[in-house]
Amino acid sequence: MKERSVGILGIGSYVPEKIITNFDLEKTIDTTDKWIVERTGIRERHVVAEGEATSDLATRAAERALLDAGISAEEIDLIIVGTVTPDMQFPSVACLVQNNIKAVNAAAFDLTAVCSGFVYGLATGSSFIKAGTYKKVLVIGAESLSKITDWSDRNTAILFGDGAGAAILGETDAGYGILGIDMGADGNGGDLLRVPAGGSRLPTTEETISQRLHYTQMDGNEVFKFAVKVMGETVNKALENAKLTAKDVTYLVPHQANMRIIQSAAKRLGLPMDRVVVNVDKYGNTSAASIPIALDEGIKSGRIKNGDVIALVGFGGGLTWGATIIKWSKP
Ligand code: COA
Repeated sequence: MKERSVGILGIGSYVPEKIITNFDLEKTIDTTDKWIVERTGIRERHVVAEGEATSDLATRAAERALLDAGISAEEIDLIIVGTVTPDMQFPSVACLVQNNIKAVNAAAFDLTAVCSGFVYGLATGSSFIKAGTYKKVLVIGAESLSKITDWSDRNTAILFGDGAGAAILGETDAGYGILGIDMGADGNGGDLLRVPAGGSRLPTTEETISQRLHYTQMDGNEVFKFAVKVMGETVNKALENAKLTAKDVTYLVPHQANMRIIQSAAKRLGLPMDRVVVNVDKYGNTSAASIPIALDEGIKSGRIKNGDVIALVGFGGGLTWGATIIKWSKP
């Protein structure tokens, strides 16, 4: 039997209105715009308003993706949301989105792969379509990291932002769409990036709150080294899977964590920076949302065109990583 080709039929993204600039941070923590720009490339980040949560961002992005694909919510068979900042422990963000957009025929679940959530979601969603189980899958990466960021910790407060990106997966022309994937994990590095409290190991207590254990903790230097190493490796594995090489890549769309990490990864892959989509300056690190937001901007700006080979690459807590190679063709 001939394998089905699966591609992105529509894409959309949304970031909340409120912006925190580096100059705003200068007023609250011991940092400078110069330091942040030089070490990370980040200039500002968007954050949710009081009362706004991840499902609100995810819903807006999903609505835009549906519009872009020209399909109705009832056609969606499955919703997968990559997130580590759900509105609450349960129900899942995916179920909240299902209700908001009235995707009454869709199954729905969240997936935890931190900043690799979107590429893990694409791999999972496309497998259901390839197997013939489902026809249309909505994959969303959505985060409100500002809610789990310790705004008094200069090591992390400068890095993160909020947003959402969504893609509708469905069958596409043979030879186009997702050509190769790679996913990996190393649980041994779990301590490098984590929120220690609020789960079943350390339920929230007055003590965990006073020790600020409900916020993101990170060993920045170790995460940096891991990221630079793994990005090139996972892209090359996914390219091998697609029977392509880095020379065939038109655009790299990396997880937007740090400009220096992106530059190192591009260099290792032999790609000049004009073939890399970068928007970390505007949004900071939005975890699972960063790749679909960058992809959406790359497409809507006219940079990414039909026939281009796109390499999406993510890495993050877990540790996790993954890459998706797509030959772009939007009907
Ligand atoms: N403003 C000013 N100075 C800061 C600072 C800030 N926000 N944060 C740290 N510093 C200081 C440090 O205290 C240190 O001072 P010292 O030399 O007097 O000890 C100095 O700057 C250098 O710190 P260092 O941690 O070595 O900086 P760095 O170049 O490694 O940059 C990160 C730090 C966090 C930007 C970088 O390690 C990084 O981006 N790591 C990856 C993080 C990431 O991507 N996480 C998410 C993955 S999905």
